[in-house]
Amino acid sequence: MRARPGSASGDNWNMSEIRLRRIKKIATRIRVPGDKSMSHRAVMLAGLAKGTSRIAGFLAGEDCARTLRAMQALGAEIESEDGTNLEITGTAGDCRQVLETIDCGNSGTSLRLLSGILAGQPFSSRLSGDASLNSRPMDRITKPLTEMGALIKSENGNDCAPLLIQASRLHPIDHQTPVASAQIKSCVLLAGMFAEGTTSVSEPNQSRDHTERMMRHFMLPIRSEGLTTFINGLSIPTARDFSVPGDFSSAAFWIAAAAALPGSRLVVENLGLNPTRTGLITVLLRMGAQIRENLDAGDQIEPRGTVEVRGAPLHGTIIEGALIANVIDEIPIIAALGALADGTTVIREASELRFKETDRLAAIATNLAAFGVPVDETPDGLVIQGGSPLAGATVDSFGDHRIAMAFAVLGLFCEGETRILNTDCIRTSYPGFERQLASLRRRHRRHA
Ligand code: S3P
Repeated sequence: MRARPGSASGDNWNMSEIRLRRIKKIATRIRVPGDKSMSHRAVMLAGLAKGTSRIAGFLAGEDCARTLRAMQALGAEIESEDGTNLEITGTAGDCRQVLETIDCGNSGTSLRLLSGILAGQPFSSRLSGDASLNSRPMDRITKPLTEMGALIKSENGNDCAPLLIQASRLHPIDHQTPVASAQIKSCVLLAGMFAEGTTSVSEPNQSRDHTERMMRHFMLPIRSEGLTTFINGLSIPTARDFSVPGDFSSAAFWIAAAAALPGSRLVVENLGLNPTRTGLITVLLRMGAQIRENLDAGDQIEPRGTVEVRGAPLHGTIIEGALIANVIDEIPIIAALGALADGTTVIREASELRFKETDRLAAIATNLAAFGVPVDETPDGLVIQGGSPLAGATVDSFGDHRIAMAFAVLGLFCEGETRILNTDCIRTSYPGFERQLASLRRRHRRHA
């Protein structure tokens, strides 16, 4: 049973906090750190490749550092002067055994994707994480891996990490994921690299396709037809250079803040604009926002460009169905927007949110209520009555980076002081968030 928000358990609990007050507008041009999902995948594939790859714009956050250290332990040589520009010489298919536990910290992407790689190795491994990660469901990956012939089990028999993997030979499968999850899909595709024959993964809705794009870039035999992706196994990736664009999920906090604050104008440059990630733009347009994306020209492995936002009054909307997968990490900030918009915002078919770094539906409902926002938590979503004036509140992050950042943004719209407690978790995905927040607030004081 996972701890619900309110019960302070977990080994990343700490005393850090953010205090903030209302601002009148946002008027700036910014960049955000590199995309987290792409950083994980670039380091994994470059780390397995034959030859030396240069990865620029790598996200120097804690989650991606976990993947980087694991790939080093497996034998990839990784050099970097500044932590974001990496030179990686891969193992060329010859990984070495890691005798100690591979500690994935808070990072579900590290644990689930590395399991796919490790299941195909001729040696045993043990993967674990912090209390939050070790309470997230892992049967979604152990089931398909076991079907492929992997010897993988949950050490405590509770379908959670720590996971123990023993040497085995993998065979291909055709897997249908029960939910649209890029982590499940990627785990099976990575394991498929080590199985002789064609492995396929089909999903009910399109989840982020960074693994497919990155595998193609690293010259692996992969192709997609609709919602099914096929990989031919036993081929080694070829080293390639890659430049990681800014993380749309990090920019989402500023895009949402500017969109909801009339008089604001924000430009975010060098931003990843993969359509499987930009559902927030669709949601904001439905809410009446003024927002424009400009894609950079050229043949891009990952689409990128500029987003321009002007603040406008927003109204409530319904978020459901296939869109959920494309806003999976943006639900906390969308809920904050729901509190700011006139009318009702309904989020449904989002029960996956209960299995993130915390139970995000419960955390959002608890925190919105603390701000005085009328909110109903349903089994698979939230119903939020927006548009009332908001008073600052003291709320917890529950150890979840996106909860911390979403409610910090909400605090920018409140009368009086807002305190977000337990904010160290932000560094898992967005080192520099607090500096950027402080700089937006200083600029506002200068220009307002
Ligand atoms: C991710 C996939 C998503 C997302 C997570 C990163 C990835 O998880 O929520 O932050 O990089 O593959 P699920 O696959 O569990 O939906």
